[in-house]
Amino acid sequence: MLKGKTVIFGVSGGIAAYKSVEIARNLVKKGATVKVIMTQAATKFITPLTFSTLTNQPVATGLFNKELSGEIHHISLSDEADIVLVAPATANIIAKVANGIADDLLSTTILATDVPVIFAPSMNSRMYLNEITQKNIKRLEAYGYRMVGPAMGELACGKGGIGRLSETDAIVEAVEFEIARGSDLKGYSVMVTAGGTREPIDPVRFIGNKSSGKTGYAIANELVRRGSKTTLISSPTCLPVPQKVNFVPINTASDMNRETIKRFDKNDAVIMTAAVADFHPLKTHKEKIKKDNIDELSIKLKPNPDIIRELGEAKGKKILIAFAAESENLLENAKRKLERKNLDLIVANDISKTGIGFGEDFNKVTIIEKDGKITEFPRMTKRAIARIIVDKLINLVEPK
Ligand code: CTP
Repeated sequence: MLKGKTVIFGVSGGIAAYKSVEIARNLVKKGATVKVIMTQAATKFITPLTFSTLTNQPVATGLFNKELSGEIHHISLSDEADIVLVAPATANIIAKVANGIADDLLSTTILATDVPVIFAPSMNSRMYLNEITQKNIKRLEAYGYRMVGPAMGELACGKGGIGRLSETDAIVEAVEFEIARGSDLKGYSVMVTAGGTREPIDPVRFIGNKSSGKTGYAIANELVRRGSKTTLISSPTCLPVPQKVNFVPINTASDMNRETIKRFDKNDAVIMTAAVADFHPLKTHKEKIKKDNIDELSIKLKPNPDIIRELGEAKGKKILIAFAAESENLLENAKRKLERKNLDLIVANDISKTGIGFGEDFNKVTIIEKDGKITEFPRMTKRAIARIIVDKLINLVEPK
């Protein structure tokens, strides 16, 4: 199950560090290459030699050592990784990552990686329940980091409570689960639309909207990561084109409509994140409109096709996911769009709130599914939301 996969295994300094030996052994047994990074504090509980003997790999203990794979540093480690596991994860490493602090090899590696990271917290109950630790954990979860545990039970201090490192099997299973998710869309083709369309008024001006494309690009990245053949149809944005996508640049709603319909048959699902203009100027001026002698200027608009609605009419077994940006009556309006457009799922977000939505890195969404299930999510990064949407998609597509 873990054959050919590289686990970067962070061990931070808690008494439960001795249990991480068993975890490393199980990961190796399952075929993984396990590269251990120990914090300085961890080396006080257990020796690097134990891990290097078990994993048959050098163990890294400092930001500037060259023990691991010759020229070792956080970037090369994060490049090699399929997954990062931190067990035990102390309150300290959780706090550091939650606040972007990178002052040792483990924290720099976590900050530099874009593969899934799992934390298995272990600490004294009072430390775990402390509001600051809780906030840090929530913050990490909002960024898409996974937590396993902690569990209830007897703690090193002799008292019972929450804070024990989860059982080895639960931690190894979580690693296997995340790795399996890395290819759960293999064999599928998914099309994503992103950005705000531009409807030309004249050669210089256009009618646009506030969409930055961040959600669509995050979803395209996640789809690629999960093994899907991914097409990204996008209006101009300031974002880098995700690697390994079939990128189709467009400008207008009409371009997007044409390019989406053209590829519809070859895809298993469409995720429509684009903010499509509902109207375009009836007439596009060939030359730049001059302001001289104009007191009042009207632009007549004509409706654009509703792309996802048209796809919904020819849906068959394909999965259709759309977004609903609403400034009022969020759920009612989103539900109406779900039905009217024959969708499987709609992601509703309230655009009247500041700090989330258009142009921001965060959003707060509610997902409504065809069977009526409604799930409200807390404020989280668009990247974390992308993962949730792709998880939902996997449950919706027919098995291959
Ligand atoms: N959409 C589309 N084609 C359009 C307009 C919207 O495919 N011409 C898609 C959007 O990409 C989004 C969903 O439909 O996934 C809902 O878009 P939204 O702008 O919230 O709703 P509209 O249908 O345009 O309705 P209204 O603007 O009246 O709220």
